[in-house]
Formats: sequence, structure tokens, C-alpha cells
Amino acid sequence: MVHFRLQAGVIFFTFVVLFPLLCLGIRSIPSREANTDAVEVLNGFRFAEAPDYRNGRDCPVSTTNGRLVSSCDPSLIHIAMTLDSEYLRGSIAAVHSVIKHASCPESIFFHFIAAEFDPASPRVLTQLVRSTFPSLNFKVYIFREDTVINLISSSIRQALENPLNYARNYLGDMLDLCVDRVIYLDSDVVVVDDIHKLWNTKLSGSRVIGAPEYCHANFTLYFTAGFWSDPVLSGAFSSARRKPCYFNTGVMVMDLVRWREGNYRRRIEKWMEVQRKTRIYDLGSLPPFLLVFAGDVEAIDHRWNQHGLGGDNVRGSCRSLHPGPVSLLHWSGKGKPWVRLDAKKPCKLDHLWEPYDLYVRNKKGYFYAHNDPQSMGLFTGSM
Ligand SMILES: *[C@@H]1O[C@H](CO)[C@@H](O)[C@H](O)[C@H]1NC(C)=O
Repeated sequence: MVHFRLQAGVIFFTFVVLFPLLCLGIRSIPSREANTDAVEVLNGFRFAEAPDYRNGRDCPVSTTNGRLVSSCDPSLIHIAMTLDSEYLRGSIAAVHSVIKHASCPESIFFHFIAAEFDPASPRVLTQLVRSTFPSLNFKVYIFREDTVINLISSSIRQALENPLNYARNYLGDMLDLCVDRVIYLDSDVVVVDDIHKLWNTKLSGSRVIGAPEYCHANFTLYFTAGFWSDPVLSGAFSSARRKPCYFNTGVMVMDLVRWREGNYRRRIEKWMEVQRKTRIYDLGSLPPFLLVFAGDVEAIDHRWNQHGLGGDNVRGSCRSLHPGPVSLLHWSGKGKPWVRLDAKKPCKLDHLWEPYDLYVRNKKGYFYAHNDPQSMGLFTGSM
């Protein structure tokens, strides 16, 4: 039923929303003001058009010759992200960072999941992405919140209860069946390395997901005392092949063939149902992933998720980087760089997010775009 409704939503969206856009041609820009390269779609929300990044010489040749790329093209890299009005500025910066550092930006296909009742409407969000990234390969899917609303329990931070946080559980159902692998990224990240390297992660054996693991984190703390004292519940970890370790679900490489075959969406939902009856954890969408996958995750290099830059869940204090190289910065936690920068109270590392910001301010009579070539030189990625 859920599957059917999701599919119906996607079909509806493809025909009613995307079809008119396609008729206009994918390079059409809904509204453009003279004298600026910024486009206003949402009231007061303006983004500058991103530079047009092109494939390098060694990239797979696109057979479509500039026409719309099908998501079934086997040479594509698939990235799934949520798209919503609240974190929009983060999502736009994340996409910008990915294509800026990718060796083959035209070979990337974005799958955006938008909530049916987003205040900006999925259609407006689609127009906004199109106008900011005129040649981006992407598709927007409508996520019906009633799919998960009855499964969500209260958590320590209200933002964690947003149904869209659970969209990652449904990628296997929503994305085209020909998409057999996807990288899931949170909206509060910037990628400062070639995403192809992450895409090429090998998921050994029958592993379904890959993510950086943190085996020094105290795993006990992610679940309640009631959970650990119940041998049936905590037995979920005793069958794990390896010691279960914490991993962050904001950056994951997912094998969607194995995911669909193993019905992992259902396995995650079952733990959410347990949580509704007996409180077994305090965080949002993360613990069910730990319950299903911890101990059987392909360990990806830590450089691909320098997480926690948003500080803790209560105060959102400043954090420093973990030792080692950085390919992806992740502002998980309460503080978001765009909020702190706007409040003129940025943390030091928030300035690393700033060059990817395409938001254009015009409230006080000045325009201010961050994407000038000078500041973009901050990272020497593999462009
Ligand atoms: C992990 O946290 C639990 C609960 O606070 C504590 O009892 C345990 O000693 C901690 N383990 C380690 C290795 O720090």
C-alpha cells in the first residue's frame, strides 16, 4: 500500500509537475530579473545561478547530447537528498559543493525527496533547483508524510521529528528500480573532494550499506536502560558478526538491490513500531539504522563524514575537526552554519561552508553572492 502510494505520488508528480517543465525545456528559467544573475522563486529566497561545471576528458561520454539524461543510464552516480524550505540553503550549498569538486559533474544524478506539504511546495522547490543549476540532472519525488507520521516518536530535538528525516528509509521504494546504488547525503554537508571516490566504495560480502564507523563512541548511550535490560531487544546486537559500532546516517552508500531484496525498509519500520510501544532510544531516525545494520556496515574512511560540526543537540556549540584528512564536512547537531553566519556568531569552521552558499541577500538593499572565484579557491579539490 505504502509502495503503491509512493509510486502513485511519483507518477503524479512526473506528469503533473515535471511534464510542464519538460515542455518548456529543461534550461528554461522561471523568472529572471534584469541586472542580477539571481532568481527569485520563493518569496524573499534568492539564489545565484551556480557556475556551469562540465565533465573532464576522462569522463563517460553522455549519449544524450544535452537532452535530459535518464536516471537508468548505467554510467551515472546517484545521490539522494531531501529538499525542504527549512534546510534549502543547506541543500543548495551541498549540491554546489558536490558538482564543484566532481571530476565528472555531468555524470551525477540527484534524487531529491520533498515533502508533500512543504510550505514552499515541491513544484516551487523544483523550479528553484532548476534555476540555480540549469544543467543539473535531477528528479524530485514527493514524500507523503503519512507514510511515516504514525511511526515517529518524540525525540530530544524537535528537528529530528521531521518526517522527511525518515525519507532515507524509503529510497528503495521511491527511486527507479534501475537505480541499484545511491549515496545518501544530509542537507547540512559540503563535499570538498571528488564524489566518484565515495561512489566507488566496495560493499563487501552481502553488506547493504557503507558509512564511516566510530567504534570508540560509547554505543550504550544510544539506547535506553530499558532496552539493554531486555534480553530479547538487546539481543538484536548479539547476532551481529562484528562488534556493533556507531555510525552516522547522514552519509551512506546504499546498495539498493540488496536493500530491496532484504526488505530493509520493513526491518527499520519494525524497530520504529517497538519504539512507539516501549521507549528504547532518544534520537530520531538514526537508532533504527543502528539496530538493523550496526556490526555489518562497510567501514568507509572517516574523511567522508567529519560530523558533529553543528555542536550538540541542546546548545549547538562550536566543534573542531576530528584529526585526519577531510573530504566531507557535516554540520550535524543543533547549530547550522547559515544560521550562525546570519546571526554574526559563526564558529570558525562555518567559514568553510560559506564559499558554497549561493543565497543572495537583498533585504537591506545590497546583493551579496558568495560564489566569487576567489573564495572558491579555498579548497584545492580535484576539479
Ligand atoms: C558507556 O556508558 C555507560 C552508561 O553511561 C557506562 O555504564 C559505561 O561504563 C560506558 N562504557 C565505557 C566503555 O565508557
